[in-house]
Amino acid sequence: MTDSRTLTNVFGVIGCPVGHSMSPAIHNHAFRSLNIEAFYHAFHVEKGELENAIIGIKALGIKGCNVTIPHKEAVIPLLDEIESTAKAIGAVNTVVNENGKLIGYNTDGKGFISSLKPYLTASLEESRILMIGAGGAARAIYFSLAAEGAREIDLCNRTVSKAERLIEECPAQTRSRALSLQAAEKELNNYDIIVQTTSIGMHPHVEEKPLNLENIKSSAIVTDIIYNPIKTAFLKEAEEKGCTILDGTGMFVHQAALAFEHWTGHFPDVSEMHDIVMKKLGGTPC
Ligand code: ATR
Repeated sequence: MTDSRTLTNVFGVIGCPVGHSMSPAIHNHAFRSLNIEAFYHAFHVEKGELENAIIGIKALGIKGCNVTIPHKEAVIPLLDEIESTAKAIGAVNTVVNENGKLIGYNTDGKGFISSLKPYLTASLEESRILMIGAGGAARAIYFSLAAEGAREIDLCNRTVSKAERLIEECPAQTRSRALSLQAAEKELNNYDIIVQTTSIGMHPHVEEKPLNLENIKSSAIVTDIIYNPIKTAFLKEAEEKGCTILDGTGMFVHQAALAFEHWTGHFPDVSEMHDIVMKKLGGTPC
């Protein structure tokens, strides 16, 4: 009989589509590098199959998974326990199977902050932050920034009422304002960090930008969570203005590294993960 300790542990991502996911490449690399007997697979799960997939994870003894579009919110009622940050965000991107009990986490916001930290010239508490967008990605990042101590976080969005709602729902105390995109453009020189969370500028609409950066200060850090293309038109304009720019690959690999740590207790080499992603995307980092 096979000793169960020698069996390969299985991890994966569930989503739709997942065919082009870069997660298998980075997680399998990290497993190999750390000599962990495990394998990560991309599981294509249609919306109507999510419940069956979760039952399957338990039945098959899959040790953990990432959850991506369109299941991040819908998976919550199917899990046994939700960690408090994920609960506040209302979305799960990481599931850990702890002896048959499925626990949901959200590493997106923390991943963003980890990717930002090396570039900070002042603490988050002292930084004036502008977020662009008020969708699911903005929610994860905003709540995480607030939980990390950031206080001056304004939100601008095409639909201002959605930004207002996010501010009302944020569990941590902030001094936030909801702004129109036009109002934010006028006040850009107030901000030290700009966080672009909308899909504007994503392939194939690569020429589009959410805001005009005319009034930005050159000392600002400008981030975009998009990584296809790596350097969006928005980041290109920010770079021309002398700003420090940060593309979406950093957040992607850091959220993955934090998920990996939840599963294995080991923090993987993020720079190696980043190299793999850059190679796959065929570009150079910002
Ligand atoms: P995600 O979960 O990836 O954040 P989402 O919840 O659909 O996606 O949110 C998309 C965000 O991009 C929203 O802030 C949306 O603005 P609205 O709330 O006004 O819809 C923003 N967005 C998308 N396309 C846009 C466009 N063409 N112009 C302005 N904002 C846009």
